[in-house]
Amino acid sequence: AVPGWSETTDVLVVGSGVAGLTAALHLREQGLHVTVVTKVNIDDGSTRWAQGGIAAVLDPLDTPAAHANDTEIAGVGLCDPAAVRVLVEEGPTRVRELMRIGAEFDRHPDGTLMLTREGGHRADRIVHAGGDATGAEVQRALHEAVRRDPWIKLVEHALVLDLLRGADGRACGLTLHVLGEGSEDGVGAILARAVVLATGGMGQIYSSTTNPSVSTGDGVALAIRAGAVVTDVEFVQFHPTSFVSAAVTSVQRPLISEALRGEGAHLVDEAGKRFMVGRHELAELAPRDVVAKGIHRVLLDTGADHVYLDARHLGAEFLEHRFPTIVASTRSAGIDPATELIPVAPAAHYASGGVRTDLHGRTTIPGLYACGEVACTGVHGANRLASNSLLEGLVFAKRIADDIARDLPPQADPFSGPAGPAWVADPAIRGELQRAMTRGAGVLRSAGSLAGTAKELTRLAGLRTTPRNAAWEATNLLTVASALVASASTRLETRGCHWREDYPVAEDEWRGHLLNGLSPKGVL
Ligand code: SIN
Repeated sequence: AVPGWSETTDVLVVGSGVAGLTAALHLREQGLHVTVVTKVNIDDGSTRWAQGGIAAVLDPLDTPAAHANDTEIAGVGLCDPAAVRVLVEEGPTRVRELMRIGAEFDRHPDGTLMLTREGGHRADRIVHAGGDATGAEVQRALHEAVRRDPWIKLVEHALVLDLLRGADGRACGLTLHVLGEGSEDGVGAILARAVVLATGGMGQIYSSTTNPSVSTGDGVALAIRAGAVVTDVEFVQFHPTSFVSAAVTSVQRPLISEALRGEGAHLVDEAGKRFMVGRHELAELAPRDVVAKGIHRVLLDTGADHVYLDARHLGAEFLEHRFPTIVASTRSAGIDPATELIPVAPAAHYASGGVRTDLHGRTTIPGLYACGEVACTGVHGANRLASNSLLEGLVFAKRIADDIARDLPPQADPFSGPAGPAWVADPAIRGELQRAMTRGAGVLRSAGSLAGTAKELTRLAGLRTTPRNAAWEATNLLTVASALVASASTRLETRGCHWREDYPVAEDEWRGHLLNGLSPKGVL
Protein backbone atom coordinates (compact mmCIF):
# COMPACT_ATOMS: atom_id res chain seq x y z
CA ALA A 1 0.00 0.00 0.00
CA VAL A 2 3.01 2.32 -0.21
CA PRO A 3 4.19 4.12 -3.33
CA GLY A 4 7.44 3.57 -5.24
CA TRP A 5 10.36 2.08 -3.34
CA SER A 6 10.46 1.09 0.32
CA GLU A 7 12.98 0.01 2.93
CA THR A 8 12.89 -0.97 6.59
CA THR A 9 14.74 0.05 9.76
CA ASP A 10 14.13 -0.25 13.51
CA VAL A 11 13.76 3.46 14.21
CA LEU A 12 13.37 6.25 11.70
CA VAL A 13 14.67 9.63 12.87
CA VAL A 14 13.70 12.66 10.80
CA GLY A 15 16.14 15.53 11.13
CA SER A 16 19.88 15.83 11.74
CA GLY A 17 20.33 18.62 14.28
CA VAL A 18 21.05 18.23 17.97
CA ALA A 19 17.76 16.42 18.68
CA GLY A 20 17.87 13.96 15.78
CA LEU A 21 21.55 13.03 16.00
CA THR A 22 21.48 12.71 19.80
CA ALA A 23 18.42 10.46 19.55
CA ALA A 24 20.17 8.33 16.93
CA LEU A 25 23.26 7.89 19.13
CA HIS A 26 21.21 6.91 22.20
CA LEU A 27 19.11 4.49 20.13
CA ARG A 28 22.33 2.83 19.02
CA GLU A 29 23.36 2.41 22.68
CA GLN A 30 20.16 0.38 22.93
CA GLY A 31 21.31 -1.84 20.05
CA LEU A 32 18.73 -0.62 17.57
CA HIS A 33 19.27 0.06 13.88
CA VAL A 34 18.59 3.66 13.01
CA THR A 35 17.95 5.51 9.78
CA VAL A 36 18.31 9.29 9.91
CA VAL A 37 16.69 11.18 7.05
CA THR A 38 17.38 14.86 6.52
CA LYS A 39 16.01 17.34 4.03
CA VAL A 40 19.25 18.68 2.56
CA ASN A 41 22.71 17.89 4.00
CA ILE A 42 23.38 16.64 7.52
CA ASP A 43 24.65 20.02 8.81
CA ASP A 44 22.07 22.27 7.18
CA GLY A 45 19.60 22.62 10.06
CA SER A 46 19.35 25.28 12.77
CA THR A 47 21.72 23.69 15.28
CA ARG A 48 24.90 24.86 13.64
CA TRP A 49 23.66 28.47 13.67
CA ALA A 50 23.20 28.54 17.44
CA GLN A 51 25.57 31.04 18.99
CA GLY A 52 24.99 31.68 22.69
CA GLY A 53 25.30 28.21 24.11
CA ILE A 54 23.71 25.57 26.29
CA ALA A 55 22.19 26.46 29.66
CA ALA A 56 22.90 23.90 32.37
CA VAL A 57 23.70 23.93 36.06
CA LEU A 58 27.45 23.27 36.00
CA ASP A 59 28.54 25.81 38.63
CA PRO A 60 28.52 24.40 42.20
CA LEU A 61 26.93 27.65 43.40
CA ASP A 62 24.03 27.35 40.93
CA THR A 63 21.02 25.05 41.46
CA PRO A 64 18.47 23.22 39.28
CA ALA A 65 15.74 25.01 41.26
CA ALA A 66 17.18 28.41 40.23
CA HIS A 67 17.38 27.30 36.58
CA ALA A 68 13.79 26.01 36.79
CA ASN A 69 12.65 29.28 38.31
CA ASP A 70 14.20 31.37 35.51
CA THR A 71 12.71 28.99 32.89
CA GLU A 72 9.23 29.29 34.40
CA ILE A 73 9.36 33.07 34.77
CA ALA A 74 10.31 33.36 31.08
CA GLY A 75 7.49 30.94 30.15
CA VAL A 76 4.84 33.23 31.72
CA GLY A 77 2.69 30.63 33.44
CA LEU A 78 2.55 28.06 30.65
CA CYS A 79 5.55 25.83 31.45
CA ASP A 80 4.84 22.30 32.61
CA PRO A 81 6.74 22.13 35.95
CA ALA A 82 7.38 18.37 35.63
CA ALA A 83 8.94 18.84 32.18
CA VAL A 84 11.03 21.76 33.43
CA ARG A 85 12.28 19.64 36.34
CA VAL A 86 13.37 16.92 33.91
CA LEU A 87 15.16 19.53 31.78
CA VAL A 88 17.14 21.19 34.54
CA GLU A 89 17.92 18.04 36.54
CA GLU A 90 19.01 15.82 33.63
CA GLY A 91 20.61 18.63 31.60
CA PRO A 92 24.04 18.70 33.29
CA THR A 93 24.56 14.93 32.73
CA ARG A 94 23.61 15.23 29.07
CA VAL A 95 26.02 18.15 28.57
CA ARG A 96 28.84 16.11 30.15
CA GLU A 97 28.01 13.22 27.80
CA LEU A 98 28.23 15.59 24.87
CA MET A 99 31.72 16.57 26.05
CA ARG A 100 32.63 12.87 26.28
CA ILE A 101 31.73 12.29 22.64
CA GLY A 102 34.01 15.17 21.67
CA ALA A 103 32.33 18.59 22.00
CA GLU A 104 34.85 21.13 23.26
CA PHE A 105 33.49 24.04 25.26
CA ASP A 106 35.41 27.19 26.14
CA ARG A 107 37.43 26.99 29.35
CA HIS A 108 39.36 29.31 31.67
CA PRO A 109 43.14 28.87 31.82
CA ASP A 110 42.66 26.67 34.95
CA GLY A 111 40.51 24.25 32.91
CA THR A 112 37.13 25.14 34.40
CA LEU A 113 34.26 25.78 32.02
CA MET A 114 33.55 29.38 31.09
CA LEU A 115 29.93 30.17 31.91
CA THR A 116 28.06 33.18 30.62
CA ARG A 117 24.63 34.77 31.02
CA GLU A 118 21.81 35.60 28.62
CA GLY A 119 18.38 37.18 28.85
CA GLY A 120 16.18 35.89 31.69
CA HIS A 121 18.98 34.07 33.53
CA ARG A 122 19.86 35.23 37.01
CA ALA A 123 23.09 33.21 37.09
CA ASP A 124 26.02 32.54 34.75
CA ARG A 125 25.11 29.05 33.52
CA ILE A 126 25.66 28.97 29.76
CA VAL A 127 28.49 26.95 28.25
CA HIS A 128 29.74 28.05 24.87
CA ALA A 129 32.23 26.97 22.24
CA GLY A 130 34.49 28.87 19.88
CA GLY A 131 33.23 32.02 21.61
CA ASP A 132 29.93 32.38 19.77
CA ALA A 133 29.99 29.25 17.59
CA THR A 134 28.45 26.79 20.04
CA GLY A 135 25.98 25.22 17.62
CA ALA A 136 28.68 24.59 15.04
CA GLU A 137 30.76 22.71 17.63
CA VAL A 138 27.79 20.69 18.87
CA GLN A 139 26.87 19.78 15.30
CA ARG A 140 30.49 18.85 14.49
CA ALA A 141 30.80 16.53 17.48
CA LEU A 142 27.46 14.81 16.86
CA HIS A 143 28.03 14.54 13.12
CA GLU A 144 31.41 12.86 13.67
CA ALA A 145 29.98 10.45 16.24
CA VAL A 146 27.15 9.48 13.90
CA ARG A 147 29.55 8.95 10.96
CA ARG A 148 31.66 6.65 13.15
CA ASP A 149 28.71 4.25 13.61
CA PRO A 150 28.08 1.99 10.61
CA TRP A 151 24.64 1.07 11.96
CA ILE A 152 23.30 4.57 11.57
CA LYS A 153 22.20 4.99 8.00
CA LEU A 154 22.03 8.58 6.84
CA VAL A 155 19.75 9.57 3.96
CA GLU A 156 20.25 13.17 2.81
CA HIS A 157 18.04 15.18 0.42
CA ALA A 158 14.95 13.44 1.80
CA LEU A 159 11.79 15.44 2.38
CA VAL A 160 9.25 13.62 4.53
CA LEU A 161 5.64 13.72 3.41
CA ASP A 162 3.21 11.69 5.51
CA LEU A 163 2.98 9.27 8.38
CA LEU A 164 2.17 5.61 7.75
CA ARG A 165 0.14 3.78 10.40
CA GLY A 166 -0.60 0.13 11.10
CA ALA A 167 -4.03 -1.43 11.58
CA ASP A 168 -3.87 -0.52 15.29
CA GLY A 169 -3.16 3.13 14.46
CA ARG A 170 0.47 2.97 15.54
CA ALA A 171 3.07 4.86 13.48
CA CYS A 172 4.95 2.40 11.28
CA GLY A 173 6.92 4.61 8.91
CA LEU A 174 6.79 7.59 6.61
CA THR A 175 6.48 8.40 2.97
CA LEU A 176 9.19 10.64 1.66
CA HIS A 177 10.74 12.07 -1.44
CA VAL A 178 14.42 11.32 -1.89
CA LEU A 179 16.24 13.14 -4.63
CA GLY A 180 17.14 10.76 -7.43
CA GLU A 181 15.64 7.72 -5.72
CA GLY A 182 13.27 5.04 -7.03
CA SER A 183 10.18 5.75 -9.08
CA GLU A 184 9.67 8.63 -11.43
CA ASP A 185 8.51 11.08 -8.80
CA GLY A 186 11.03 9.76 -6.25
CA VAL A 187 8.37 9.10 -3.61
CA GLY A 188 8.87 6.01 -1.48
CA ALA A 189 8.54 4.84 2.10
CA ILE A 190 10.73 3.91 5.03
CA LEU A 191 9.01 1.48 7.37
CA ALA A 192 10.04 1.52 11.03
CA ARG A 193 8.93 0.25 14.43
CA ALA A 194 9.01 3.81 15.79
CA VAL A 195 9.37 7.26 14.22
CA VAL A 196 11.07 10.28 15.80
CA LEU A 197 10.35 13.72 14.38
CA ALA A 198 13.28 16.08 14.94
CA THR A 199 12.67 18.42 12.04
CA GLY A 200 13.32 21.74 13.80
CA GLY A 201 11.38 24.95 13.49
CA MET A 202 9.27 27.08 11.18
CA GLY A 203 11.00 30.49 11.10
CA GLN A 204 10.65 30.60 7.32
CA ILE A 205 6.99 31.54 7.64
CA TYR A 206 8.30 35.10 8.22
CA SER A 207 10.21 37.51 5.98
CA SER A 208 13.09 37.76 8.39
CA THR A 209 14.29 34.99 10.65
CA THR A 210 17.47 33.69 12.19
CA ASN A 211 16.51 30.22 10.89
CA PRO A 212 18.04 28.67 7.76
CA SER A 213 15.95 28.14 4.62
CA VAL A 214 15.16 24.53 5.58
CA SER A 215 13.09 25.60 8.62
CA THR A 216 9.69 25.26 6.99
CA GLY A 217 7.67 23.53 9.73
CA ASP A 218 7.70 20.14 7.97
CA GLY A 219 7.33 18.06 11.14
CA VAL A 220 4.50 20.11 12.61
CA ALA A 221 2.67 20.09 9.25
CA LEU A 222 3.10 16.31 8.96
CA ALA A 223 1.79 15.87 12.51
CA ILE A 224 -1.23 18.07 11.81
CA ARG A 225 -2.04 16.02 8.68
CA ALA A 226 -1.70 12.82 10.72
CA GLY A 227 -4.06 14.13 13.42
CA ALA A 228 -1.54 14.50 16.26
CA VAL A 229 -2.15 17.17 18.88
CA VAL A 230 -0.19 20.36 18.28
CA THR A 231 -0.09 23.09 20.95
CA ASP A 232 1.28 26.57 21.63
CA VAL A 233 2.11 27.38 17.98
CA GLU A 234 1.10 31.02 18.56
CA PHE A 235 4.22 31.41 20.72
CA VAL A 236 6.84 31.95 18.04
CA GLN A 237 9.70 33.74 19.67
CA PHE A 238 11.30 36.75 18.02
CA HIS A 239 14.96 37.14 18.83
CA PRO A 240 15.49 40.78 19.80
CA THR A 241 18.76 41.27 17.95
CA SER A 242 19.18 40.11 14.39
CA PHE A 243 21.61 42.10 12.26
CA VAL A 244 20.01 44.67 9.96
CA SER A 245 22.04 45.61 6.90
CA ALA A 246 21.39 46.32 3.24
CA ALA A 247 24.14 43.77 2.60
CA VAL A 248 21.89 41.01 4.01
CA THR A 249 19.42 40.11 1.29
CA SER A 250 18.32 36.62 2.40
CA VAL A 251 15.30 35.80 4.59
CA GLN A 252 17.78 34.35 7.09
CA ARG A 253 19.40 37.18 9.03
CA PRO A 254 22.64 36.90 11.01
CA LEU A 255 22.06 36.50 14.73
CA ILE A 256 23.69 38.89 17.18
CA SER A 257 23.80 36.64 20.22
CA GLU A 258 22.19 37.62 23.47
CA ALA A 259 25.52 36.64 25.02
CA LEU A 260 26.85 39.94 23.69
CA ARG A 261 24.39 41.70 25.99
CA GLY A 262 25.31 39.13 28.65
CA GLU A 263 28.90 40.38 28.38
CA GLY A 264 27.83 44.02 28.72
CA ALA A 265 26.60 45.41 25.37
CA HIS A 266 23.70 47.89 25.57
CA LEU A 267 20.64 48.50 23.43
CA VAL A 268 20.27 52.15 22.45
CA ASP A 269 17.92 54.16 20.27
CA GLU A 270 18.80 56.70 17.59
CA ALA A 271 19.55 59.28 20.30
CA GLY A 272 21.88 56.91 22.18
CA LYS A 273 19.41 56.34 25.05
CA ARG A 274 19.33 52.91 26.78
CA PHE A 275 15.59 52.38 26.36
CA MET A 276 15.39 49.04 28.22
CA VAL A 277 16.55 50.63 31.47
CA GLY A 278 13.43 51.26 33.55
CA ARG A 279 11.29 48.86 31.49
CA HIS A 280 12.42 45.75 33.36
CA GLU A 281 14.63 45.08 36.39
CA LEU A 282 17.05 43.12 34.14
CA ALA A 283 17.05 45.89 31.46
CA GLU A 284 18.70 44.49 28.26
CA LEU A 285 18.86 41.05 29.92
CA ALA A 286 15.12 40.78 30.50
CA PRO A 287 13.49 37.67 29.00
CA ARG A 288 13.55 37.68 25.23
CA ASP A 289 9.88 38.53 24.66
CA VAL A 290 10.19 41.60 26.88
CA VAL A 291 13.24 42.91 25.00
CA ALA A 292 11.71 42.17 21.56
CA LYS A 293 8.59 44.09 22.58
CA GLY A 294 10.71 46.97 23.95
CA ILE A 295 12.53 47.24 20.62
CA HIS A 296 9.33 46.93 18.59
CA ARG A 297 7.80 49.76 20.63
CA VAL A 298 10.76 52.02 19.74
CA LEU A 299 10.44 51.04 16.07
CA LEU A 300 6.72 51.90 16.11
CA ASP A 301 7.41 55.23 17.84
CA THR A 302 10.24 56.30 15.56
CA GLY A 303 9.32 54.64 12.26
CA ALA A 304 12.87 53.28 12.05
CA ASP A 305 13.56 49.69 11.02
CA HIS A 306 16.28 49.12 13.62
CA VAL A 307 17.73 50.17 16.95
CA TYR A 308 21.39 49.72 17.90
CA LEU A 309 23.53 47.49 20.01
CA ASP A 310 26.49 49.32 21.51
CA ALA A 311 29.42 46.97 22.17
CA ARG A 312 32.19 49.50 21.57
CA HIS A 313 33.25 49.67 25.23
CA LEU A 314 34.05 45.93 25.18
CA GLY A 315 37.05 46.62 22.95
CA ALA A 316 38.31 45.05 19.71
CA GLU A 317 40.46 42.39 21.37
CA PHE A 318 37.69 41.04 23.58
CA LEU A 319 35.09 41.16 20.79
CA GLU A 320 37.31 39.36 18.28
CA HIS A 321 38.18 36.65 20.76
CA ARG A 322 34.78 36.13 22.39
CA PHE A 323 32.48 36.82 19.41
CA PRO A 324 34.39 35.89 16.24
CA THR A 325 31.24 34.87 14.32
CA ILE A 326 29.46 38.14 15.03
CA VAL A 327 32.51 40.27 14.31
CA ALA A 328 33.05 38.46 11.00
CA SER A 329 29.44 38.86 9.87
CA THR A 330 29.12 42.52 10.82
CA ARG A 331 32.55 43.47 9.43
CA SER A 332 31.75 41.72 6.15
CA ALA A 333 28.75 44.04 5.90
CA GLY A 334 30.90 47.09 6.68
CA ILE A 335 30.13 47.54 10.41
CA ASP A 336 32.96 47.23 12.93
CA PRO A 337 31.40 46.55 16.35
CA ALA A 338 34.57 47.73 18.09
CA THR A 339 34.09 51.26 16.77
CA GLU A 340 30.49 51.44 15.47
CA LEU A 341 26.96 50.75 16.67
CA ILE A 342 25.40 47.51 15.34
CA PRO A 343 21.95 48.01 13.73
CA VAL A 344 19.58 45.32 15.07
CA ALA A 345 15.88 44.41 14.97
CA PRO A 346 13.77 41.44 16.09
CA ALA A 347 13.48 38.43 13.74
CA ALA A 348 11.56 35.16 14.08
CA HIS A 349 13.78 32.77 15.99
CA TYR A 350 12.15 29.83 17.73
CA ALA A 351 8.85 27.95 17.85
CA SER A 352 8.13 27.54 21.57
CA GLY A 353 5.18 25.27 20.71
CA GLY A 354 4.84 22.32 18.37
CA VAL A 355 3.82 18.68 18.46
CA ARG A 356 2.56 17.93 21.96
CA THR A 357 4.57 15.30 23.84
CA ASP A 358 4.70 13.77 27.29
CA LEU A 359 7.83 13.47 29.42
CA HIS A 360 9.11 10.64 27.21
CA GLY A 361 8.70 12.52 23.96
CA ARG A 362 5.61 10.51 22.98
CA THR A 363 3.11 12.36 20.82
CA THR A 364 -0.61 11.56 20.89
CA ILE A 365 -0.04 8.98 18.11
CA PRO A 366 1.47 5.72 19.45
CA GLY A 367 4.92 5.07 18.02
CA LEU A 368 5.40 8.69 16.93
CA TYR A 369 7.84 10.78 18.98
CA ALA A 370 8.86 14.43 18.67
CA CYS A 371 12.11 15.98 19.90
CA GLY A 372 13.69 19.43 19.85
CA GLU A 373 12.10 22.51 18.30
CA VAL A 374 9.37 20.54 16.50
CA ALA A 375 8.07 19.34 19.88
CA CYS A 376 6.09 21.01 22.60
CA THR A 377 7.35 19.18 25.69
CA GLY A 378 6.09 21.91 28.02
CA VAL A 379 9.50 23.28 28.99
CA HIS A 380 9.19 26.58 27.14
CA GLY A 381 5.65 27.73 27.90
CA ALA A 382 4.83 31.04 26.24
CA ASN A 383 8.47 32.04 25.72
CA ARG A 384 11.61 29.92 25.71
CA LEU A 385 14.43 30.89 28.04
CA ALA A 386 17.72 31.62 26.26
CA SER A 387 19.95 28.60 25.57
CA ASN A 388 17.37 26.06 26.76
CA SER A 389 16.82 24.78 23.21
CA LEU A 390 19.96 22.73 22.57
CA LEU A 391 19.52 21.49 26.13
CA GLU A 392 15.95 20.34 25.47
CA GLY A 393 17.13 18.39 22.41
CA LEU A 394 19.84 16.63 24.44
CA VAL A 395 17.60 15.78 27.38
CA PHE A 396 14.51 14.54 25.59
CA ALA A 397 16.44 12.63 22.91
CA LYS A 398 17.79 10.38 25.65
CA ARG A 399 14.34 9.91 27.19
CA ILE A 400 12.87 9.04 23.79
CA ALA A 401 15.57 6.44 23.09
CA ASP A 402 14.98 4.85 26.51
CA ASP A 403 11.23 4.78 25.96
CA ILE A 404 11.51 3.26 22.49
CA ALA A 405 13.89 0.57 23.73
CA ARG A 406 11.56 -0.31 26.62
CA ASP A 407 8.61 -1.16 24.44
CA LEU A 408 9.29 -1.70 20.76
CA PRO A 409 6.72 -3.83 18.92
CA PRO A 410 7.53 -5.77 15.73
CA GLN A 411 7.27 -3.97 12.41
CA ALA A 412 3.65 -3.47 11.37
CA ASP A 413 2.39 -3.29 7.81
CA PRO A 414 0.97 0.03 6.76
CA PHE A 415 -2.79 -0.38 7.03
CA SER A 416 -3.59 2.01 4.23
CA GLY A 417 -1.69 4.36 1.98
CA PRO A 418 -0.96 7.83 3.31
CA ALA A 419 -3.70 10.38 2.97
CA GLY A 420 -1.18 12.84 1.51
CA PRO A 421 -1.82 16.56 1.57
CA ALA A 422 -5.34 17.38 0.36
CA TRP A 423 -3.73 19.92 -1.95
CA VAL A 424 -0.26 21.07 -2.88
CA ALA A 425 0.60 24.75 -2.77
CA ASP A 426 2.42 26.67 -5.46
CA PRO A 427 6.04 27.34 -4.35
CA ALA A 428 5.72 30.86 -5.74
CA ILE A 429 3.57 31.76 -2.71
CA ARG A 430 6.52 31.59 -0.30
CA GLY A 431 7.43 35.31 -0.40
CA GLU A 432 3.80 36.47 -0.24
CA LEU A 433 3.13 34.13 2.69
CA GLN A 434 6.18 35.44 4.55
CA ARG A 435 5.13 39.05 4.01
CA ALA A 436 1.53 38.40 5.08
CA MET A 437 2.69 36.64 8.26
CA THR A 438 5.16 39.40 9.10
CA ARG A 439 2.53 42.11 8.54
CA GLY A 440 -0.33 40.51 10.46
CA ALA A 441 0.95 37.75 12.73
CA GLY A 442 4.44 38.89 13.71
CA VAL A 443 5.74 40.47 16.91
CA LEU A 444 2.50 42.46 17.40
CA ARG A 445 -0.95 41.16 16.44
CA SER A 446 -4.59 42.21 16.59
CA ALA A 447 -7.93 40.75 15.52
CA GLY A 448 -7.82 42.94 12.41
CA SER A 449 -4.24 42.11 11.42
CA LEU A 450 -4.79 38.38 11.99
CA ALA A 451 -8.02 38.40 9.97
CA GLY A 452 -6.16 40.10 7.11
CA THR A 453 -3.44 37.45 7.22
CA ALA A 454 -5.98 34.61 7.41
CA LYS A 455 -7.70 35.97 4.30
CA GLU A 456 -4.41 36.18 2.46
CA LEU A 457 -3.47 32.61 3.46
CA THR A 458 -6.84 31.37 2.16
CA ARG A 459 -6.17 33.11 -1.14
CA LEU A 460 -2.68 31.59 -1.35
CA ALA A 461 -4.08 28.12 -0.58
CA GLY A 462 -6.16 28.44 -3.74
CA LEU A 463 -3.02 28.57 -5.89
CA ARG A 464 -2.34 24.87 -6.44
CA THR A 465 0.27 22.98 -8.40
CA THR A 466 1.63 19.51 -9.04
CA PRO A 467 3.60 17.82 -6.26
CA ARG A 468 7.34 18.43 -6.11
CA ASN A 469 9.69 19.33 -3.28
CA ALA A 470 9.34 23.12 -3.31
CA ALA A 471 5.56 22.68 -3.51
CA TRP A 472 5.48 20.31 -0.54
CA GLU A 473 7.55 22.80 1.44
CA ALA A 474 5.16 25.60 0.49
CA THR A 475 2.26 23.39 1.58
CA ASN A 476 3.94 22.84 4.94
CA LEU A 477 4.57 26.58 5.35
CA LEU A 478 0.92 27.25 4.61
CA THR A 479 -0.24 24.53 7.01
CA VAL A 480 1.79 25.78 9.96
CA ALA A 481 1.14 29.47 9.19
CA SER A 482 -2.60 28.76 9.16
CA ALA A 483 -2.38 26.90 12.49
CA LEU A 484 -0.44 29.80 14.01
CA VAL A 485 -2.94 32.40 12.78
CA ALA A 486 -5.86 30.29 14.08
CA SER A 487 -4.23 30.00 17.54
CA ALA A 488 -3.19 33.64 17.65
CA SER A 489 -6.73 34.72 16.69
CA THR A 490 -8.23 32.52 19.38
CA ARG A 491 -5.97 33.58 22.26
CA LEU A 492 -7.47 36.85 23.45
CA GLU A 493 -4.67 37.99 25.72
CA THR A 494 -1.02 39.00 25.68
CA ARG A 495 1.33 36.39 27.09
CA GLY A 496 5.03 35.73 26.39
CA CYS A 497 5.72 35.90 22.67
CA HIS A 498 2.04 36.34 21.81
CA TRP A 499 1.45 40.12 21.88
CA ARG A 500 -2.09 41.29 21.13
CA GLU A 501 -2.56 45.03 20.67
CA ASP A 502 -6.28 44.64 21.39
CA TYR A 503 -5.86 42.39 24.49
CA PRO A 504 -2.76 43.81 26.15
CA VAL A 505 -2.66 41.83 29.42
CA ALA A 506 -2.32 38.18 30.43
CA GLU A 507 -5.63 36.73 31.67
CA ASP A 508 -6.01 33.81 34.08
CA GLU A 509 -8.71 32.19 31.97
CA TRP A 510 -6.16 31.84 29.13
CA ARG A 511 -3.55 30.17 31.30
CA GLY A 512 -3.67 26.98 29.26
CA HIS A 513 -2.78 25.49 25.90
CA LEU A 514 -4.77 25.73 22.71
CA LEU A 515 -5.44 22.40 21.11
CA ASN A 516 -4.41 22.77 17.45
CA GLY A 517 -5.47 26.40 17.79
CA LEU A 518 -8.93 25.48 16.78
CA SER A 519 -11.31 26.32 19.56
CA PRO A 520 -11.42 28.32 22.77
CA LYS A 521 -12.87 25.15 24.29
CA GLY A 522 -9.53 23.54 23.58
CA VAL A 523 -7.71 25.44 26.35
CA LEU A 524 -6.15 22.53 28.25
C1 SIN B 1 21.56 33.67 21.22
O1 SIN B 1 22.74 33.36 21.15
O2 SIN B 1 21.19 34.81 21.50
C2 SIN B 1 20.53 32.64 20.93
C3 SIN B 1 20.48 31.67 22.02
C4 SIN B 1 19.15 30.97 22.02
O3 SIN B 1 18.40 31.04 21.06
O4 SIN B 1 18.82 30.37 23.04
